[in-house]
Amino acid sequence: MEIRPFQVEEWMNSEEEKAKYNIAETCVDSVSLDELFVITGEDKEKFFSSFSSRRLTYGHIKGSHELLSGIASLYEGMNESDVITTHGAAGANYHAFLSLVSPGDEVVSVMPTYQQLYSIPEALGAKVKILRLRKENGYLPDLNELESLVSEKTKVIAINNPNNPTGALMDEDMLGKIIEIARKNDSYILSDEVYRHLTQEDGYSKSIADMYEKGVSTGSMSKVFSLAGIRMGWIATKNEEAKKEMLSERDYNLISSGMFDDEVASLALRHKEKVLERSLKIVRTNLEILDKWIKSTEGFNYVKPKAGTTALVHYSFDIPSYEFCRKLLEKTGALVTPGDAFGEETAFRIGYACDKKSLEEGLKALSEFSQEL
Ligand SMILES: Cc1ncc(COP(=O)(O)O)c(C=O)c1O
Repeated sequence: MEIRPFQVEEWMNSEEEKAKYNIAETCVDSVSLDELFVITGEDKEKFFSSFSSRRLTYGHIKGSHELLSGIASLYEGMNESDVITTHGAAGANYHAFLSLVSPGDEVVSVMPTYQQLYSIPEALGAKVKILRLRKENGYLPDLNELESLVSEKTKVIAINNPNNPTGALMDEDMLGKIIEIARKNDSYILSDEVYRHLTQEDGYSKSIADMYEKGVSTGSMSKVFSLAGIRMGWIATKNEEAKKEMLSERDYNLISSGMFDDEVASLALRHKEKVLERSLKIVRTNLEILDKWIKSTEGFNYVKPKAGTTALVHYSFDIPSYEFCRKLLEKTGALVTPGDAFGEETAFRIGYACDKKSLEEGLKALSEFSQEL
């Protein structure tokens, strides 16, 4: 299978270790296990002594009851049997496309977004039509344009809500309208919801899997729960046909998600309110810092994110985005991601949910760098 290089991941792979101020990272500031025990109030000694006496088998093949019910509890109407665990949300997106898309199918995907959503179906032999999210629309989809791209040949409409890199958030009303278009054409909607729950205003955004009979949601413990190190992700759907395909596919590429990852994710989900409280505090405090910086620094502008951990920042300097980001890194040690990796010129993606000090120092480095341009 031929697949295009994953531009954002290639950038991170080659540059991340050089960073002094990593403001390219998209997880809410990752925690250690020690920190997780403090946040949740769980007993560390008890956890380890109980785990270390267990034989390291595959564990629960589909995931422990506690894990599956913990994930289901993040939705409104999901049961354990509606959840399929995967290797991160990256594994979930891959798995979902592999199960749903065949050569010759059509897929409509938003852009900019995480490249998986258009490059995987393309590699699987689908004809991919791009729905461009534009700055002038606040990076929300133009529904007339969507309607013109979708037909009865459309197997999947792929969206990302909240969106990486822009932080745009589709509300229930807009999701409802997208569902109407999908339903008329009997299309699935695959919504990458890896940043769901990270809202700037109180209240969580709706999941497509709770709203639509052919809605497929992907998520993980990486961003919202700050636990990328356990590689625990999932697909949630109530659609029986999709579930059957996905479970069959899963036997071929996963077997289980691993006992340790299952235990740690279950622990975090048992205390989801406490972990979420920390995450929300970080994204809200840090976005205020970023917003003040944008307003007070010449040469930069953005559409203020409504959710997630990232923003797409445009600049008014005459320099391509890869060159901008490389020079910034070389001169200051601050790492951001080139907009061109998302098809956006003269822009970069910033991940603002890192620790406050890195964000403040990274922004200071950006200010100094921009004065030299
Ligand atoms: C939109 C989106 N989906 C999926 C992923 C993959 O996340 P993970 O595999 O760590 O759960 C990322 C990571 O950056 C992302 O931004």
